[in-house]
Amino acid sequence: MYNIDFANNIYSISYRNYSLKIFDNDSLPDFHKVLFRVNSNTSCHPKHNKRGYFAITARDLGDYHPDIRLLAINPGLTYAEIGPGLGEFLIHASKKANVVAIDPADYNLMKDILNFSLTLNLKDVYKNLINKMLARCNFYLSINLYNVNVEDVSTRFPELAHSIDVVVENFGPGYYFGRENISYHEKMLLKEGGILLQR
Ligand SMILES: C[S@@+](CC[C@H](N)C(=O)[O-])C[C@H]1O[C@@H](n2cnc3c(N)ncnc32)[C@H](O)[C@@H]1O
Repeated sequence: MYNIDFANNIYSISYRNYSLKIFDNDSLPDFHKVLFRVNSNTSCHPKHNKRGYFAITARDLGDYHPDIRLLAINPGLTYAEIGPGLGEFLIHASKKANVVAIDPADYNLMKDILNFSLTLNLKDVYKNLINKMLARCNFYLSINLYNVNVEDVSTRFPELAHSIDVVVENFGPGYYFGRENISYHEKMLLKEGGILLQR
């Protein structure tokens, strides 16, 4: 079922088109030490297109762009992240405001792979990061998650159009699939006067 590989100090634990990558390298930031890669031929980012994947990362709030991490969270507003993956921004925003996640990632499949990886003989530093990612999968499965590509959201969920006050995207689909097309779909979600913050 799971395919396990270890080469050049990188563990790969794969199931279907998802691979959990564990880079045994102290000098990397946490969100690059443990991440998922999803095989996909659609990325137009030159680096990822050549290799045929996009990543699902778990950035902490402090690793988001300053415009996003320093954003004041207003309890009366609704915040959406496009391509949150396992990032922390919506966890932070959800403590005060309504939040919406739009991401096609398979959070249940990621949970299965993460749980399996905990049965391997990994260093504590990686087990701790994996446990954090598991908790984040549970968070995303507990909130308003639209588990689709943002390009499909307005046809699948027309009620979401013009319903969001603040839309953020941090290394999300615009990075992988082309900024212009993705921005068009993100703007469709905004209320009049709403703001879009992208990195
Ligand atoms: C590199 S991760 C970024 C995660 C998080 N924002 C962070 O900064 O750590 C990119 C995310 O974009 C999501 N994604 C890919 N294609 C998407 C699409 N068409 N619409 C919405 N999200 C998408 C992926 O599933 C993944 O979770």
